[in-house]
Amino acid sequence: MNKAATVTEQIKPFDVMAVRQDFPILHQQVNGHPLVYLDNGATTQKPQAVIDALVEFYSTYNSNVHRGAHSLSDKATEKFENARITLAEFINAPESREVIWTRGTTEGVNLVAYSWGRQNLKAGDRVLVSMMEHHSNIVPWQLVAAEKGATVEPIPVTQLGEIDQDAYAAMLDDRVKMVSFGQVSNALGSINPVKEMADKAHQVGALVMVDGAQGVGHWMADVQALGCDFYAFSGHKLFGPTGIGALWGRAELLESMPPWHGGGEMIENVSFAGTTFNRIPFKFEAGTPNIADAIGLAAAINYLNGLDKAGAIAHEEALMQRVQERADAFEGLRLVGCARNRVCVMSFILEGIHSADIGMLLDQQGIAVRTGSHCAQPVMEHLGLDGTVRASFSFYNTFEEIDRLFAGLEKAKTFLL
Ligand code: ALA
Repeated sequence: MNKAATVTEQIKPFDVMAVRQDFPILHQQVNGHPLVYLDNGATTQKPQAVIDALVEFYSTYNSNVHRGAHSLSDKATEKFENARITLAEFINAPESREVIWTRGTTEGVNLVAYSWGRQNLKAGDRVLVSMMEHHSNIVPWQLVAAEKGATVEPIPVTQLGEIDQDAYAAMLDDRVKMVSFGQVSNALGSINPVKEMADKAHQVGALVMVDGAQGVGHWMADVQALGCDFYAFSGHKLFGPTGIGALWGRAELLESMPPWHGGGEMIENVSFAGTTFNRIPFKFEAGTPNIADAIGLAAAINYLNGLDKAGAIAHEEALMQRVQERADAFEGLRLVGCARNRVCVMSFILEGIHSADIGMLLDQQGIAVRTGSHCAQPVMEHLGLDGTVRASFSFYNTFEEIDRLFAGLEKAKTFLL
């Protein structure tokens, strides 16, 4: 029995060094230094349990689902549909048929924009998105709004990096049909008050779509507690494979929405006299789905379910506190995004040094961060910046890695200033 399987079966008190043993990629040298992986906002690393699930699928039961007349296909179908149930339980969805497999968050937003948006938006309608959105939660709405004569309007963000709640309340009227925003900002780490904002939107009859990409990996994806209508996220930000994600939507909404991709699987009957469509979730899953990665994502969730969740969350909070202390004490460092409620993300600039140069210098020391506008150009422009350095942490990061980051920044300063 491998170590990851043991962890899954018995929840143990959170021990970061033990947990790191479950992630093979973390134990390597990069550019002659032990890797410090602080780019979890871009993608998270995968525990051995996920890698094993993928190898097991391709080496023992690779088959297509829902259509085979043989045992391997039955097994693949069972594992694939069980993965949907595992995921539904993880996000506290009332029903697993409300979970639609997608390629990731971007596809989830596009699905809602094209299916719900094309059916429901009309000239004069308003879609509100926050100023701090990732491009994937702006552009799909712009494309559909342009077609329908609707507008996409940004909800202002304060200099702290929080959605301006007064401005938001003032924007709401009965022409607002959709409010779509991120649970957590990828560029700033701000945690947005989803429930409060959703309740306000519902009061004027608007629907609420939440981009959960940056929240799901921090145990924040309880769709019933959030009170939203749609929630999209990516598996690769939840310690699972790339190319798989999910859209959750309330059943009655999904049932009322038209398909957006046509093909096999999404139909009930096809004829030239008229085609009828399958029930949800299959209505939105044209073509062979990403079977292996859905099963891999369920393995990631099972792995997470075996961790000491409260311990992992407390560890991330302790990391955040240490990062804040070190940042406050570091001369020339300016944090970008100081929301009172945020995940362990340090987005910053160093006076006089370009972000890209800092990223390069850190990489030479084995420290992986992201630099630039983080696919969130509007908020960068709003804050008067062309980009930041972003160090984004996960539960497997350590205090020693924070020390390595700040030592790396000292070096960068000496070298570049
Ligand atoms: N959205 C990902 C990030 O913030 C790619 O880095």
